Amino acid sequence: MSLDLRILGGSVIDGTGMPARRADVGVRDGRIDAIGDLRAATARETIDATDHVVAPGFIDSHTHGDVAWSLPDEHLDVKTAELRQGVTTEVTGNCGFSPFPADGPHADQVTALMGALLGSAATAWPDLAAYRGSATGMYANIAPLVGHGSIRAAILGFGDRAPDAAELRAMIGLAERALAQGAVGISSGLVYAPGLYSRTDELIAVARALRGTGRPYVTHMRGETDMVADSVREAIQIGRDAGVPVHISHHKTSGKENWGRTAETLAIIDAARAEGLDVTIDVYPYTAGSTLLHSILPPWALADGIEAMVARLGDRAARDRISRDFRDGLPGWQNQQRAAGWEGIVIASCAGRPQLEGRRATELGPDPAEAVFDLIETERGRVTMIAHTMREDDVERVIAHSASMIGSDAIPLPGKPHPRLAGTFVRILGHYVRERGIVDLPTAMRKMTALPAARFGLMDRGLLERGKIADLVVFDPATVLDRATYDQPLLAPVGVRLVVLNGQVVVRAGNVAEPNGAML
Ligand code: ZN
Ligand code: CU
Repeated sequence: MSLDLRILGGSVIDGTGMPARRADVGVRDGRIDAIGDLRAATARETIDATDHVVAPGFIDSHTHGDVAWSLPDEHLDVKTAELRQGVTTEVTGNCGFSPFPADGPHADQVTALMGALLGSAATAWPDLAAYRGSATGMYANIAPLVGHGSIRAAILGFGDRAPDAAELRAMIGLAERALAQGAVGISSGLVYAPGLYSRTDELIAVARALRGTGRPYVTHMRGETDMVADSVREAIQIGRDAGVPVHISHHKTSGKENWGRTAETLAIIDAARAEGLDVTIDVYPYTAGSTLLHSILPPWALADGIEAMVARLGDRAARDRISRDFRDGLPGWQNQQRAAGWEGIVIASCAGRPQLEGRRATELGPDPAEAVFDLIETERGRVTMIAHTMREDDVERVIAHSASMIGSDAIPLPGKPHPRLAGTFVRILGHYVRERGIVDLPTAMRKMTALPAARFGLMDRGLLERGKIADLVVFDPATVLDRATYDQPLLAPVGVRLVVLNGQVVVRAGNVAEPNGAML
């Protein structure tokens, strides 16, 4: 028997959390064929991994890479930023946004929703099967969630109202179809229109579609600022009442007043877990977030879709009312503008006015609010931001928590994207493991491999075990580190020697081969 690939002399970390052990790894026909002493085996290719760690390819438990494969190849740095860190699978469709199901009376609104987040590249498909059929040229495997926001947009558009009984049945039907076609869970985005118009009972009803699948209700909660504790309780209640696992996205507490409160929110999660509820979280290793610029607007200003929002921004009285809401807040609304302050809001991606990328809101004009309104209006919402809202001790506390896994929340767009796109996984390994000692290496690896594989039902991946699909990464634990910064967000990492995707060597010393990712 001859192997396709033999990786000799490395320290194998298998993903379970067990310590490293010295072993060779053999790959044949796309799968891990042998682990042990392979010095006598024959192979088409042999890699010397002395002083390197050999591990399962990383699973990014939270991305917005749904249509990154459709970006033109001039943006190869964006398209390959995850893979070059060792990410071989991305869980997409997060925060309520999935490029399907565009099927229902407002099917066109799903394209509008995706376009707001991902710009002109965004398209939408009637169902997951059609999306899967179109997706090609992926630099990582894609494990798609179906977004409650997309489902709601297809049935109700961007209306600020609850579904009637027939509409709710239609929404549940779309969720069930997506799950039957292989969606790895249902996501919600309760700060974004139209998700923010849904009440808890609607979310419970839709989440019930997950019963019996073992797959989770995944949520960007209603609030990560002052309302964060109540929002965690709501997420847990949805899981409890629907009888399904809950996964809280990019867990954090934002805004000065809430710094330190991850101690409180993690205690709520621990109590739920102690009660037997299946609750997990993901986290990215940065004190800034990134999302749509117009997500800072109050809910009423976002109602009825992008065009209605743009029209409102043309109205003096509406602008004044928004500014008042920024200052005074509204009950039940997370005020991201106040959490970040204008000095903490930076333009990330703006295809229409790229000269503004990297600028703070305070640099856009003498009155930052007016300048931001102008920008959202003229660009019709197609602007993303980076918002500096967190404190380091909270980030470390969430990374260290036993129920957390790593998720970049990357939004793969050209411009000045958040450095989490090109830095998350190597930053965990270099900064949080090696330099800070927040978690040990096998534990960190588990948060990037076996834990997300189990959470999203990826049974063939996430473990370095005989018979699993050969998604592998070989890195130097002494040097691995991120180089991506807010100023230069697409700099490639150091210390990642080799990445194997679906049995093929796809990254070798930083050089990337032809894409061979699959839609799972
Ligand atoms: Zn989110
Ligand atoms: Cu997200």
